[in-house]
Amino acid sequence: MKIGIVGTGNMGRSLGVLCALHGHEVYFGSRDEQKARTAALLAVKPAGAGTNQEAAAFGDLIVWAARGAPAKEIVSDASSLAGKPLIDLNNNENRTDGGFGSAGALSFAERLQAELPEAQVVKAFNTLPMEVLEVEEAELRDKQVSVFLASDSESAKVTVRELVEELGFAPFDFGPLRNARLLEALADVFRHAIHQGASLYGCLSIVNLPKPERTRLGGRQPSKLR
Ligand SMILES: NC(=O)c1ccc[n+]([C@@H]2O[C@H](COP(=O)([O-])OP(=O)(O)OC[C@H]3O[C@@H](n4cnc5c(N)ncnc54)[C@H](OP(=O)(O)O)[C@@H]3O)[C@@H](O)[C@H]2O)c1
Repeated sequence: MKIGIVGTGNMGRSLGVLCALHGHEVYFGSRDEQKARTAALLAVKPAGAGTNQEAAAFGDLIVWAARGAPAKEIVSDASSLAGKPLIDLNNNENRTDGGFGSAGALSFAERLQAELPEAQVVKAFNTLPMEVLEVEEAELRDKQVSVFLASDSESAKVTVRELVEELGFAPFDFGPLRNARLLEALADVFRHAIHQGASLYGCLSIVNLPKPERTRLGGRQPSKLR
């Protein structure tokens, strides 16, 4: 697949190089073309490098890893993104002072979708520290590391789901794009855990335990909240 990386920072570079390692054609976009070229040199398969607009035009799938400016300033011709699945992995600014966003507030992903109505935004990969992208595929598969997907486009979700599986992660359908509010809050929770001592190689997995053969505790009864 042709993958355009919009924003070659830590996440854009890491995800782009990982996709190239898995045989995809990748184009790294940045405001700084030298930075994009340096990232492209890390890719085993020859990769392209240039502007964010060129990356947007190149990809059949877009990784949106840029932040700090309105979408239409990052990509000059938004029509290049029309009909394309676009992975948004942005989170709130990292806070160490205990001030976190509200899980009910409009998410970055919803605001991005409103700015780019022709793209098919999928919130994904935002709950993983970049370090986890370095972990060997066999280890990821063994631990069933979850990547949560929220989107209003089922077809875009299918495309991203396939990529997630290919990279060794366990996709978890998190419903419509509005649920990105929860995923961005979940990233805040996880980053706070890192501040409290969790490893940068920590990650979240939805683990389905086998159902116990016998009930010892009375089982789940209907709630009677008034
Ligand atoms: N790092 C992680 O472990 C991690 C994990 C999950 C999610 N995230 C989220 O992913 C996003 C990117 O994180 P990161 O760690 O890759 O950050 P980063 O290394 O600081 O990279 C920031 C990116 O934003 C772009 N950018 C910044 N200001 C811009 C502006 N005014 N106009 C256009 N582009 C601008 C940079 O573009 P240039 O290439 O042009 O410099 C760069 O690609 C953040 O929202 C972060 O919360 C990060």
